[in-house]
Amino acid sequence: MRVHVADHPLITHKLTVLRDKNTSSPTFRSLTEELVTLLAYEATRDVRVESVIVQTPVATAEGLAISSPRPLVVPILRAGLGMLEGMVKLIPTAEVGFLGMVRNEETLQPDIYAERLPDDLSNRQCFVLDPMLATGGSLIAAINYLFERGAVDVTAICLIASPEGLAAVERATEGRNVHIVLGALDDRLNEVGYIVPGLGDAGDRLYGTV
Ligand code: PRP
Ligand code: URA
Repeated sequence: MRVHVADHPLITHKLTVLRDKNTSSPTFRSLTEELVTLLAYEATRDVRVESVIVQTPVATAEGLAISSPRPLVVPILRAGLGMLEGMVKLIPTAEVGFLGMVRNEETLQPDIYAERLPDDLSNRQCFVLDPMLATGGSLIAAINYLFERGAVDVTAICLIASPEGLAAVERATEGRNVHIVLGALDDRLNEVGYIVPGLGDAGDRLYGTV
């Protein structure tokens, strides 16, 4: 598993505002979108491309185009939905599939409650979006699901991860082509499975309590 932790002052600045408990939902939403676009730049470094030739007004030019099948972007509902616009801004031609997952807050086990993905993910590059990698349970379930459906490599973009969750994902996906791109790697998980210092409940901060 490859892990990239962003090291850029603009990303840390935006994350710091996101962490602040006084930041309002509208600001939280727009910062989340901006952060994803910045992280997506790194996450798509290995996006599959092919050579193409275009005619400029002056001459022919060799260039690159994103290959087929197009990348599949998979936001994990609910909080991952807040990352979708920021991602498709960077790859507007990507397809989008959805996985609805919720963590049982007593057992911390993830449950898949909704799925809308292409049946066949053979040969697909997938980009999973979820702001929080806490115990890792949700991301492990999402990644396994995509590989079972034929995906060949999975890149996850998360705003914040815990070291415990990251290690769990690494153990669970050994031998698979998995890449994790993070805005920050925090200190630890607390006794109720929250990332410390973290930013609280990402879904609630994006959309309010349900
Ligand atoms: C949050 C978050 C991740 C999960 C992380 O979602 O968006 O999906 O928890 O926790 P884990 O690493 O311990 O599995 P939540 O289950 O709260 O659902 P929501 O997005 O609907 O708020
Ligand atoms: N889910 C969140 O939204 N935040 C955490 O800190 C852990 C899980």
